[in-house]
Amino acid sequence: MRIEKLKTVNSTNLYLEKFIKGREDVIVCAEEQTAGMGTKGRSFVSQKGGLYVSKLAFHRNLPASEIYSVNINACMAVVKTLLCYGLQPKIKWPNDVFVCGKKICGILINNSLCGDKVDYSIIGIGVNVNNEFDGELKNIAISMREACGKSFDLDEVFMTLCTNLSFPSNIKEYAAFSSVLNRKVKIIRGNRTFEAVPTEILPDGRLKLDDGTLLSAGELDLKIGL
Ligand code: BTN
Repeated sequence: MRIEKLKTVNSTNLYLEKFIKGREDVIVCAEEQTAGMGTKGRSFVSQKGGLYVSKLAFHRNLPASEIYSVNINACMAVVKTLLCYGLQPKIKWPNDVFVCGKKICGILINNSLCGDKVDYSIIGIGVNVNNEFDGELKNIAISMREACGKSFDLDEVFMTLCTNLSFPSNIKEYAAFSSVLNRKVKIIRGNRTFEAVPTEILPDGRLKLDDGTLLSAGELDLKIGL
């Protein structure tokens, strides 16, 4: 697999698009992004000290019905990486990783389908490693350095993440790190806000609530700690 390290790029996810025709897996990491992309069309703050990684992964024979496994594997690769450095990560469904109640990593995945199969995925992962937050962000974001009181070797964290990205995981492992299961959360869906207790993450990635409602990622915001 090809691995590239960049100093500055607009977005590592965008950068990988030029490799799609080559049909070879590629991982790229950047020291900073000038136009980091987040979920729901938001931007992603990507200053120096963080780790900005994207992987272009071609799937051999992944049915579209199992597309959610790409998200599970990416989340668990981050969780396993953070565990290696002594942190205690939690996953806020579907794919934010938290430490000490604050976001330490965001994941943005673009999947491409071919018929009823997933052809390839671009898996973008932004981990707060040695960067520090101030102002409003300090209340909601945290870095590995802030959580542990010491700096980390970015190249080493990158290689650990690359290794963990090559191993598959499963919904059971993912559920074990969930921060939303069996506790009351606030759900904002369109212009409706309600409280519920998620009881299960289904194999297709949907979240089951205590009243039986099934929620799909992307259609809502979920707040923990009412
Ligand atoms: C989110 O939490 O909103 C998702 C953030 C995803 C950020 C990563 S950083 C590497 C890759 N390149 C991007 O432009 N975005 C993802």
